Amino acid sequence: MISLAEVTGLKITTLLDNITQSAGPVAHWGFSALLEYDAEGKKRVLLDTGSDRECILRNLKTLKIDLRGIDAVVLSHGHWDHTSATVDVVKAAGGVSVYAHPSAFQPVFRVDEKGKRHRISVPDGQGVADIEAAGGQIILSKTPIEVAPGVWATGEVPRDSFETIMELVKERLVREGSDAPDTIPDDQSLFLREKGVGLTVITGCAHSGPLNILSYVEALTGERVKALIGGTHLTGRKPEYTAATIEGLRKHDLRILSPCHCTGFKAMAELSHTFPETFVLNYSGNTLEPAKILRERKAPL
Ligand SMILES: [Fe+2]
Ligand SMILES: [Fe+2]
Repeated sequence: MISLAEVTGLKITTLLDNITQSAGPVAHWGFSALLEYDAEGKKRVLLDTGSDRECILRNLKTLKIDLRGIDAVVLSHGHWDHTSATVDVVKAAGGVSVYAHPSAFQPVFRVDEKGKRHRISVPDGQGVADIEAAGGQIILSKTPIEVAPGVWATGEVPRDSFETIMELVKERLVREGSDAPDTIPDDQSLFLREKGVGLTVITGCAHSGPLNILSYVEALTGERVKALIGGTHLTGRKPEYTAATIEGLRKHDLRILSPCHCTGFKAMAELSHTFPETFVLNYSGNTLEPAKILRERKAPL
């Protein structure tokens, strides 16, 4: 069982998402989020590096965020829309540890309705050798690992629910050398415990399934998850799948549900309708402060 240190003052700034709400930060399909918090001093952890270098660099500039000295970079999985600016981020940080699952840098493909393969893995120029040449230290782990004080990456997530493989309506995902559906074993999320909020999970794409992720983090820590923020990959799913996910979420004890990115518009609308008290919209340039959200809602823990 992992005994989590309690952090305070968590702020999660979304550096890139599919949507935005201002004339400042741009939107682009993909995800990147910066966690800032207090634990033995100020700490910063970056989850994912987005889908487009120019968008990330532009949003960093617009938001006046300097990544120099950040404590860790974590790649949630090896898809291009989460890994396109890792080298730039490592350079901006002045060298930093980059955490990923051992399978994250393997070539993976999307197979369209006509059977054509499209590469969706980490882009050229953003691989292990490129990251190391930029001053990054790659740390590969299949098992849970503390990436900075109080913040953990799940590593590989067991598939114990109906969420097993990425079954999409119109396409399928495969790994190089195989035609079998890709289980995306490299998918991982971050978790931490914040004072005034409780156990908090931040996902990238949640390819291993949001319900599997919640159950796994609860099993690892012996606590219930109170906040879930990030992609849930309900886009492109059959309606029954989304409905089963929503039913599964009802059994959890979330006080904050902030799905974004690959959740997709339809599922976002359904989730906001089903969980009006807990749903929080997230988008490029947005800063979420979970403890502040709960304080302002006057929600007792
Ligand atoms: Fe993905
Ligand atoms: Fe994604």
